[in-house]
Amino acid sequence: MGARVGSMADAAVEAKTVPVFDTVESLRARIGAWCKAGETVALVPTMGALHGGHLALVAAGRRLARRTVATIFVNPTQFGPNEDFTRYPRDLATDLAALAEAGADGAFVPSVETMYPAGFRTTVAVAGLSDRLEGRFRPGHFSGVATIVAKLLLQALPDVALFGEKDYQQLQVIKRMVRDLDIPVRIEGVATVREADGLALSSRNRYLTRAERKIAPKLHAALARAAAELEKGAQASPILEKAKQALVKAGFAEVQYLELADAATLEPLQRADRPARLLVAAILGKTRLIDNLAVAVR
Ligand code: PAJ
Repeated sequence: MGARVGSMADAAVEAKTVPVFDTVESLRARIGAWCKAGETVALVPTMGALHGGHLALVAAGRRLARRTVATIFVNPTQFGPNEDFTRYPRDLATDLAALAEAGADGAFVPSVETMYPAGFRTTVAVAGLSDRLEGRFRPGHFSGVATIVAKLLLQALPDVALFGEKDYQQLQVIKRMVRDLDIPVRIEGVATVREADGLALSSRNRYLTRAERKIAPKLHAALARAAAELEKGAQASPILEKAKQALVKAGFAEVQYLELADAATLEPLQRADRPARLLVAAILGKTRLIDNLAVAVR
């Protein structure tokens, strides 16, 4: 009995925790102390509901820097009026446990008032890049993303910040913003983490019904098939059209876009004659899924 109590106490002591910062001042004090001690810092911005994709960013951060801090903030300004801001999954205790387990050194979890104090009037917008693809279907989305990411980078001033290729257009918008505004942070992209059947991990996958979950991997399969044909030098339009039809036939309600684009500017391409990316957004039941894939140059 005594031994049992002892081992439970030991387990409690061993349970990993992660320091949580909820003000900019406390975040800066800790990061400032690390920098003073000569330690490098990686930042992993997230909206929580953490899964293996987010944790791959934390792992990449730990390889690139001595300290890794994740941020958890469901950013209201990047959600449209009819999007899922209020029902976006929130489970802080589980997220903090996952971050501790992944070896993160801190979590910045600010309130909406901390990030958007009364009278907040500044926005950051990356013209052009933000208007195509996702931007056509989610007006204002990328200026919400650019504004909050600019704030997070300036609040933390890490050496490096990590973003997933899962949100490929977001990664390009952030790279351009950081370059244009001379924000002194290196931006690193991390490859998309997928389920065994190809479905990209996403916090929104939990909205899928069991039947939809079986259909969802066809999004990646369609991209992979189209990419293979495009890599042979074929013209894009008929291949993209065929892939869209396959998705609708598989049970997707709508394919919002399926495009071949220049890998950096995201301008549409007719052929993969330079570094290119295939990007897709499609509706499955009530859930909107996005994915993308590199297309190798011939
Ligand atoms: P969120 O959707 O929580 O994603 C946080 C980071 O995790 C992003 O960089 C995203 O690209 C990455 N990510 C998501 N799924 C991934 C996967 N399957 N594989 C690899 N990386 C993945 O993206 C946002 O939050 C927000 O827009 C944010 C940048 C935090 C600004 O609010």
